[in-house]
Amino acid sequence: MKIKLENISMKFGDLYAVRNISLSVAKGEYLTVLGPSGCGKTTLIKVISGIWKPTEGRVTVDGEDVTDIPMEDRDTGYVFQNIALFPNMTIRDNVGYSPRVKDMAQDEVDDISKGHLELVKMFDRAGMFPSELSGGEQQKVAIARALASGSKMLMLDEPLSALDARVRVELRYEIRRLVKKLGITVLHVTHDQEEAMSVSDRIILMRAGGIQEVGTPLDMYRSPKSIFAAYFIGETNLMECTVSGKTRTGKITVRLRGGQAVRASKSDLEVGDPAVISVRPENVYAAKDGLKAEIIGVVFMGTYWKIRTLAETTDYIDYNVSSNDEVPKKGDRVYLVFNKKATKVFARPEEGLEEAIKLE
Ligand SMILES: Nc1ncnc2c1ncn2[C@@H]1O[C@H](COP(=O)(O)OP(=O)(O)O)[C@@H](O)[C@H]1O
Ligand SMILES: [Mg+2]
Repeated sequence: MKIKLENISMKFGDLYAVRNISLSVAKGEYLTVLGPSGCGKTTLIKVISGIWKPTEGRVTVDGEDVTDIPMEDRDTGYVFQNIALFPNMTIRDNVGYSPRVKDMAQDEVDDISKGHLELVKMFDRAGMFPSELSGGEQQKVAIARALASGSKMLMLDEPLSALDARVRVELRYEIRRLVKKLGITVLHVTHDQEEAMSVSDRIILMRAGGIQEVGTPLDMYRSPKSIFAAYFIGETNLMECTVSGKTRTGKITVRLRGGQAVRASKSDLEVGDPAVISVRPENVYAAKDGLKAEIIGVVFMGTYWKIRTLAETTDYIDYNVSSNDEVPKKGDRVYLVFNKKATKVFARPEEGLEEAIKLE
């Protein structure tokens, strides 16, 4: 199913929970709506699925305007954060619920239920009740139930948030594998940027009711178009600076707060412009020469050490050291260099850096 939103707004009293959003979702696409808590993700997905009618704007599905059609009359599977299986029904009957209320014959209902439980590898639990399953297993059943409605569109609102870390990661891949196999269009809401990056074809990054940025996970990570996206997706070091040089091909040099020159990637900014650079920890290295910094913290992350430094520019700069390597110590002095291709330059917003990354 192909979904199109045109100028969607949703108001609660005077508050715009969602403001003027337009976007298209391709058939079979796995699209994630990502953003901080309270930015309007749930409101948006409820409007798209017909649980709420938008204050303004239109929703079309496969070219048909469905704005005024309520959820129950649409062909959408919906899975909430809080797993809502019917506690007094077996797993088989939970998954067969939608076909049954459509008055299908019992054989047919059982067939559909069996098929969908097999898809999520839960058929061996068909006779059990929800309380006899773990959270992750219940969530798989909830997804099977949503799909058993025959829906070609699945709406997932924080489907994994209530689960243990390991189950959450496994289930991510499981859901993606399943929907890709079935060719289903997915809208998945999450506040977890790692989850969004690992399952999506495309991410919609929301902020304060609007769309901040749209792109593939790789593009958004490597080439964010805004300071907010650079900050919200992955980890990054942000430093205030001023553009001090520009080559004919548009490559930028900036001066940091202490006056040190740093080379960065291409940008439209001009010499003299106030700027901010963003460089991710994996693109910062300790070297023989560079920006002077003192190590003020070392955290063991398993595959790497996360090293926090205070640089002579007065910026905190983090970098990573493989846990196979010798670990630097707190108090050590280091020289930091940045991978210039991966050092992104943004115009410094007038409201200041703090405002540019505020989550609300
Ligand atoms: N039913 C409602 N009535 C009034 N305000 C609401 C309602 N639902 C959500 N809001 C408000 O709309 C904003 C966005 O909420 P929501 O869409 O739930 O955010 P998210 O899912 O991104 O955390 C919040 O400020 C929230 O308080
Ligand atoms: Mg929500």
